[in-house]
Amino acid sequence: MYIHGSQVNKLVKNFFKHKNCVNLAILDIGSGGGANAKYLRKKGAYVYTLDKDKQFDPVFNMDIKDFKFEHKYDIILCLNVLQFLSINEIKEIVPKILNAVEDNGYLMIQMFDSPVAD
Ligand SMILES: C[S@@+](CC[C@H](N)C(=O)[O-])C[C@H]1O[C@@H](n2cnc3c(N)ncnc32)[C@H](O)[C@@H]1O
Repeated sequence: MYIHGSQVNKLVKNFFKHKNCVNLAILDIGSGGGANAKYLRKKGAYVYTLDKDKQFDPVFNMDIKDFKFEHKYDIILCLNVLQFLSINEIKEIVPKILNAVEDNGYLMIQMFDSPVAD
């Protein structure tokens, strides 16, 4: 059975392949199986996983709707998770996510897809 987030996302691999990730603070929203986090930690990043499903043992085991965005992150991953929210919830959460990205940081959003790296 394929567990979402159990393989490195193609977008993540392509984007970060040649990027220096040492000491980057990354928030991975809807991290699932954690493959992206594992990949980025190996590259030296601090990855804070967030998932409402406790089986994945995320750093933040909670619903994204309840998360207090008190810190800024160099990169926020929001991959294949927003589609589980209503349009009003998305309208409310996206500005909070954007505001939590450092100046010159990156926000990576993907929806309705779960491609894996080769
Ligand atoms: C389709 S998987 C995506 C996993 C990974 N980001 C990827 O792209 O491979 C969606 C994940 O989002 C989590 N999720 C869904 N709704 C959520 C919410 N409201 N708050 C936090 N996590 C949520 C699920 O538990 C699941 O692990």
